Amino acid sequence: MEKCPYVIGNWKMHKTAREAVDCIETLASLIAGCHVNLFLATSFTSLAQAVQASKGTQIIIGAQNMHEAREGAFTGEISSLMLKEAGASFVMLGHSERRALFGETDQMVKQKVARALQDDLIPVLCIGETLAERESGKTEKVLKRQLESALGSLPAEDALKVLLAYEPIWAIGTGSAANPQQAQEVHSYVRSLLGHLFSARKAREIPLLYGGSVHPENAHHLIAEGDVDGLLVGGSSLDPQALAAIVRRCAQSTSITREKKS
Ligand code: PGA
Repeated sequence: MEKCPYVIGNWKMHKTAREAVDCIETLASLIAGCHVNLFLATSFTSLAQAVQASKGTQIIIGAQNMHEAREGAFTGEISSLMLKEAGASFVMLGHSERRALFGETDQMVKQKVARALQDDLIPVLCIGETLAERESGKTEKVLKRQLESALGSLPAEDALKVLLAYEPIWAIGTGSAANPQQAQEVHSYVRSLLGHLFSARKAREIPLLYGGSVHPENAHHLIAEGDVDGLLVGGSSLDPQALAAIVRRCAQSTSITREKKS
């Protein structure tokens, strides 16, 4: 994978397979030549067709969740092997909607991350605090707990395969993103936690993405921050024009960001 910004489109429970294919075809032509790793997290039923449609493009297809076991009596669940068979390259794990609405615990997320790594799926680990936690000064404590639980017992070479997304829950789907300084502050803290767990050099190699109300209008400000290596986009990723605009803004900022980070 190219060393350039990451954009992940999280389609949540939107788009049928037909709609996914149409969107991928449109996107592929809109972003051709942009130096950005574009990941799309589709519905399970769209995966195989989305993978097919993405062949020969720079788009990488993955899923939004999976179960921690490879198989078993888990009615309604899906496993890493099934995602792999459908052609998924990555899987989002620990999204706040999974944690809040479907009861996912830190322990489950940790097991999912380990399973994804065992079965050669790139884990996109999502962490983030609620508004109440932020307002009571608990942001760092919550992020530390989520991060150390999911990654703390991994060997460094496995941690380097993970993409990390900081998604403040108060910014998801609300239209009010963290401002670039807030995102940078938290990313720099997360980077220091990774440095303690692994090493400062390895911490710099783990991509840190920001997610929560990213739009074409704020993308370039967020990606310009030194510790923001990419963006995780929900609502705006459903519209190929908006997502392509975000990708282009990230591509434009690459040379500036590279200079800044070197
Ligand atoms: P949003 O969603 O961009 O619509 O805020 C982000 C997410 O939930 O991943």
